[in-house]
Amino acid sequence: MKDKILFALSHVDDPDLRKDLVTLNMIQDIKVEGNKVTFRLVLTTPACPLKDMIKNACITAIHHFVDKNLEVNIILDSKTTTSQTNQNDALSRIKNIIAVASGKGGVGKSTVAVNLAIALAKLGAKTGLLDADIYGPSLPTMLGLRGAQPQVTKEGEKITIIPFEKYGIKAMSIGSLVEEKQALIWRGPMISTALKQLLRDVDWGDLDYLIIDMPPGTGDIHLTLAQQFPLGAVVMVTTPQLVSLADVHKSMALYMNPAINKPVIGVVENMSWFSPEEHPESKYFLFGKGGGEKIASEYNIPLLAQLPLFQKVAENADEGLPAVLNENPEISKHFIEMAGHIARQIAVLNNASHIAEHTPA
Ligand SMILES: Nc1ncnc2c1ncn2[C@@H]1O[C@H](COP(=O)(O)OP(=O)(O)OP(=O)(O)O)[C@@H](O)[C@H]1O
Ligand SMILES: [Mg+2]
Repeated sequence: MKDKILFALSHVDDPDLRKDLVTLNMIQDIKVEGNKVTFRLVLTTPACPLKDMIKNACITAIHHFVDKNLEVNIILDSKTTTSQTNQNDALSRIKNIIAVASGKGGVGKSTVAVNLAIALAKLGAKTGLLDADIYGPSLPTMLGLRGAQPQVTKEGEKITIIPFEKYGIKAMSIGSLVEEKQALIWRGPMISTALKQLLRDVDWGDLDYLIIDMPPGTGDIHLTLAQQFPLGAVVMVTTPQLVSLADVHKSMALYMNPAINKPVIGVVENMSWFSPEEHPESKYFLFGKGGGEKIASEYNIPLLAQLPLFQKVAENADEGLPAVLNENPEISKHFIEMAGHIARQIAVLNNASHIAEHTPA
């Protein structure tokens, strides 16, 4: 009977990885009791937006190939595929470190990072958010944590910084750890050493994703984070203006530089159009069109999302309430969908590198 179930499920493909669930080892612990079949479906991310679809496809396949009267009980589970390789590292309990970047200031990196982190948590993943902007941290305002000081414990030489917990995520801002005056005198190597220290002292615990909100530009902080941290992937943010893409190219060049070589998994175009709240279906292209698509096609990477400009997003951010938590689903859905696409893209990337690692050259 178990063989029949496996045979049936070998006809169901994971839509992203394009292989069947049995080959991918996603079906585990099959139990058959009388008329009832139970098994675990182990997805590549707890934030998989397709879980219901895959589950339904399993039930259909079993009813079709085995017996249409079987009661199918599927336990959803996940094992986030991971981009981590160095298991001795203090950050090894974090499965995926994802930077949200853009060479350009003010395009919405922080908005994307904060809402992505919360959306991934809402989809079921353990998520952390690190604001790496020493000179202009946004996270304390956007999460309503201004002035809050993190708890720090010291045991002998070992310092542990406890991240804030808000809206289902763990969060830490470099701005909360470094005095502004001190940051201003930091230069190249000092930034690098201090950052390394700080980031390794934060007690993130087990995380599926750590999202890093990068500062604008392509400076020392970017080099440090990209070279000295197990950064798994980068999400590039841009606005639709074609004239403002030069900075995005610079940022792409940094991550694609062979010495750094971090995969940019796609582009998020922010402020793509303006939609008045009373008419969310209307689109006004205030800032031109096509920037995100142009970057995506030039670098052959997906356009992961186009986020409209909503007055509420800016207002919410100032009130410390991220847009993904807005009660209007016309607003929040854009961020949830973006997070789903990003989680899928990361799963695809990790699966590809896993195969590459285990395939003899
Ligand atoms: N989709 C949006 N709709 C409305 N307002 C937005 C949207 N995205 C961002 N904003 C607003 O635009 C401003 C800049 O956004 P944000 O701080 O996220 O950009 P940034 O790229 O992180 O900037 P910086 O380079 O300074 O770090 C903020 O006031 C934010 O609330
Ligand atoms: Mg920012």
